[in-house]
Amino acid sequence: MRGLKDKAAVIAGGGSGIGAATARRLAEEGAQLVIGDLSANAARAVSRSIEAAGGRAIGLAFDVRDAGSVAPGFTLTEEIDRQLDPGLRAEFVAGVRGRRLVSPEDVAAAVAFLLSEDAASINGQVISVDGGRTMRP
Ligand SMILES: NC(=O)c1ccc[n+]([C@@H]2O[C@H](COP(=O)([O-])OP(=O)(O)OC[C@H]3O[C@@H](n4cnc5c(N)ncnc54)[C@H](O)[C@@H]3O)[C@@H](O)[C@H]2O)c1
Repeated sequence: MRGLKDKAAVIAGGGSGIGAATARRLAEEGAQLVIGDLSANAARAVSRSIEAAGGRAIGLAFDVRDAGSVAPGFTLTEEIDRQLDPGLRAEFVAGVRGRRLVSPEDVAAAVAFLLSEDAASINGQVISVDGGRTMRP
């Protein structure tokens, strides 16, 4: 993906789930990250794992209330994976067009794309990452 190397990005809620996956993906693309979370420990754990993998990140506590342009559908984070009832899981899988549920990494890929130069002409859009559960003409 073009244009993410050395770009600075601030990720709110980067201590777990979709935010953590997004932080890891942007770091893989060469971005420098500030990872914030209500839990400083969670933010620091993610930043440390990124640095151990050769990326550049710092983790700290912050409280951000914000709106993004990626709209995740039901996303199988580690926490949800641990708790999801098997019957409900089968129902969710039946509702998507692929063979699996949306992963945090799928959402992270969309965020990385929108931040990259490849998406320079995509502005003010809301991109659904929901496995095709909703289809718009
Ligand atoms: N997982 C899904 O299926 C799904 C679907 C649609 C939307 N979402 C939304 O996407 C976001 C992330 O979901 P997730 O499943 O990865 O959640 P998660 O609970 O795994 O992670 C959320 C992280 O954000 C942190 N946080 C909460 N409020 C904060 C604040 N004010 N400032 C800074 N950090 C804060 C939490 O401490 C936590 O580490 C949530 O807003 C959720 O509602 C999730």
